[in-house]
Amino acid sequence: MKKTLPDRLPTHVAIIMDGNGRWAKQQKLKRVEGHRVGIDSVRNITEACCDFGIPYLTLYAFSKENWSRPKEEVRTLMFLLGLYLENELPFMMKNGIRFNIVGERKDFSKALQAQFDHVINETAGNKNVLLTIGLSYSGRKEIVRAARLIAEDVKSGRIKRIDERTFKKYLYAPDIPDPDLLIRTSGEMRVSNFLLWQIAYTEIYVTDILWPDFRREAFLDALKDFAKRERRFGNIKEF
Ligand code: IPE
Ligand code: IPE
Ligand code: MG
Repeated sequence: MKKTLPDRLPTHVAIIMDGNGRWAKQQKLKRVEGHRVGIDSVRNITEACCDFGIPYLTLYAFSKENWSRPKEEVRTLMFLLGLYLENELPFMMKNGIRFNIVGERKDFSKALQAQFDHVINETAGNKNVLLTIGLSYSGRKEIVRAARLIAEDVKSGRIKRIDERTFKKYLYAPDIPDPDLLIRTSGEMRVSNFLLWQIAYTEIYVTDILWPDFRREAFLDALKDFAKRERRFGNIKEF
């Protein structure tokens, strides 16, 4: 049965893409194969956002903490990241996808940083979906970094008032609205240091489906669930 799109869609969907390793284990494959197939899910979900008219998609691909994984796995992930950036540009241009990253870009090799810049610059004029990838990202680090930058600007007299609006301007991607929906695949009920500031009132959806299996149909189920939620933002009726 073909699933229809719900009336009320989120403007910004954030996803913790988890379960690549478990998927590979299930298939009796090496973990790297889970990451490889996970890239197909990234393309599939990005394309779905274009088709559904969801303008912001933020994907958690690599956390600051993930650097502590075995060297071989980190190396493989960096290799796949390079491959992704090399291969996906035509797809992004065809579908009007603007690419951006959040996280500590300086943690990556010069070659990868040059690839980030290339894809960011080439896609800068695209208007359908802003695809933001969390790379060497840590929500706490983002907040501490903002506090440090604010302290410097207060010291030099550039700013005087510190309120929520000012604070947001010092985050990695100040112009993106907060996520309406946060999806985590593979069943874990935790946020693992993702977008801590931004998810204050985000609706959370956890599915047992592993990331390499998470495709358009499963995404539609999440969107349908979101459409039923009553958002209150601390008030007594739906916002
Ligand atoms: C998510 O899958 C991808 C990254 C965090 C890089 P995992 O590699 O965490 O897979 P599991 O959680 O071990 O199944
Ligand atoms: C969260 O997944 C980070 C990313 C998806 C990039 P992890 O697999 O690293 O999270 P934990 O270790 O289960 O909390
Ligand atoms: Mg995991």
